[in-house]
Amino acid sequence: MEKHPLVVEIESIDQELNALQLGSAEQAEQFRLKYLSKKGRISLLFDTFRAVEPQYRKDIGKSLNVLKSKAEAAWKAASSTTNHSAKQAQQTDYSAPGWPFSLGSRHPLSIVANEIQEIFNRIGFSVAEGPEIEDDWHNFSALNFPKDHPARDMQDTFFISTEPEMALRTHTSSVQIRMMEAGQPPFRMIMPGRVYRNEAVSARAHCFFHQVEALYIDQGVSFADLKQTLLYLARELFGKDTQIRLRPSYFPFTEPSAEMDISCSVCKGDGCNICKYSGWVEILGCGMVHPNVLRNCNIDPEKYTGFALGMGIERIAILKYQVKDLRLFSQNDLRFLKQFNTGW
Ligand code: DAH
Repeated sequence: MEKHPLVVEIESIDQELNALQLGSAEQAEQFRLKYLSKKGRISLLFDTFRAVEPQYRKDIGKSLNVLKSKAEAAWKAASSTTNHSAKQAQQTDYSAPGWPFSLGSRHPLSIVANEIQEIFNRIGFSVAEGPEIEDDWHNFSALNFPKDHPARDMQDTFFISTEPEMALRTHTSSVQIRMMEAGQPPFRMIMPGRVYRNEAVSARAHCFFHQVEALYIDQGVSFADLKQTLLYLARELFGKDTQIRLRPSYFPFTEPSAEMDISCSVCKGDGCNICKYSGWVEILGCGMVHPNVLRNCNIDPEKYTGFALGMGIERIAILKYQVKDLRLFSQNDLRFLKQFNTGW
């Protein structure tokens, strides 16, 4: 008996399926379009099947369903394995070498400020802070500045235009006053912070910079305590062979006042352009706190004495790292900042 044409067709597709190899997602999709989509060959066989004579329907219907299931299984298998391998390709290869992870670094001024803080912490000084927008009393008057002192001049100080009594603090000495007003001696603290001066910006001057102030008030504090503290500070900061020298100076809030030089850390005293061939560089101002300042803060100068000192953090950093231009500290140039990576 001759085979029904539909059976011939089913068998030929079946052979095609047997010979099939679906390697990629694209091939699986091509296969679905060719055999299983609405206009696909297997779907068309179902259309033809509607006209099949009743006596063949059962057998042909069965083989048609078997063929369809086989094609669907082949397609499913192919698309799931190809999807799987695509996913696998995207997955992380844990054996591959890692990407370099770029760490930030501390700002050189923070490194120096932290170092100064640690040096003072070791001899019992705590840390205090005060506001950067300050009133005349704390920045000048309480610190014994005469009314006509040049530091009060518009040329040095940024005043707040709408508040004539307010200014950007010109030094951290203002925090001394705030601390002494708020408590009773003994005081042993350092006061780091940003200060502002009305200066033209250049390699050697800036309109803002940073200072650390130190204050020690107690009974019987003498100039000898100041001198020994300065020697300790200088040697901790610049090395144990560092020499110091004190030159008489004037500040309204200290009496006597001095400026401290250290033996040049760059040329070790031989003479170089950092120390202008003198072998010494100035690093801070200091003195015994003026009795008027103590009185202004309701502290009895007959009972208590003390010393204060103030230094520019930029100045210390410039000497330590031999930075030639002050502006580099505030330009946020990563090529500069990256050089101070201390590895946390
Ligand atoms: N305030 C001074 C300045 O900005 C620095 C200074 C000098 C602070 C002497 C002090 C001091 O505490 O005793 O130039």
